Amino acid sequence: PERKFFVGGNWKMNGSKKEIDEIIAFLKAGPLDEHTEVVCAPPSIYLDYTHQHLPGTIGLAAQNCYKVAKGAFTGEISPAMIKDVGVHWVILGHSERRHILGESDLLVAEKVEHSLAQGLGVIACIGETLSEREAGKTSEVVFRQTKAIADKVTASGWDHVVLAYEPAQEVHAELRKWMSENVSPDVSAKIRIIYGGSVTAGNCKELARESDIDGFLVGGASLKPDFVQIVNARK
Ligand code: G3H
Repeated sequence: PERKFFVGGNWKMNGSKKEIDEIIAFLKAGPLDEHTEVVCAPPSIYLDYTHQHLPGTIGLAAQNCYKVAKGAFTGEISPAMIKDVGVHWVILGHSERRHILGESDLLVAEKVEHSLAQGLGVIACIGETLSEREAGKTSEVVFRQTKAIADKVTASGWDHVVLAYEPAQEVHAELRKWMSENVSPDVSAKIRIIYGGSVTAGNCKELARESDIDGFLVGGASLKPDFVQIVNARK
């Protein structure tokens, strides 16, 4: 099946209303390739503001959420709240949350399960650390993280998941094979696996040519006009 190219702009903990106005201005100026699905992820406190000003053709994602709808979880936000402000996606399991905030494979998987049940699309991030890569553990770590998620996702749930991984075609191909053998050939053929390793205007075209790279999760460059070139990488 055709996998629509997907480019996420993960603003991380950056931005202010003024800076967001500037980002929205260059996104509006574009022009953005209409064959690419574009989703921006502002800090949660700016989701509502960004939603009010961003063109409706560009999607929005939260950068995180908790695994239940409401309750005594100080500082957290729920998928129900994300949807309530008109946002349809959430990034989960980002390496910064796994490594700086200590999120486990199980917690990430539970968040994915609850978010899908609540009707959000999920950008599920997986990836090894540098030391794990150097120890030759890339596949082991990536498949362990993916399995934790796969255990909680129903067959139809996969329609609403984008997998984000670094660093590139070789692992993307391995991941697609793992999905085929452990989830289903159908899901493996249609799921978008996007690349999240320091994509820039300079390297995006070459990366976009790889057959198993279906888009990008962009950090730093998503704050700059370069993001337009990255969205248009396949043009
Ligand atoms: O979420 C995006 C990845 O962490 C990559 O970030 O493009 O700033 O290197 P970066």
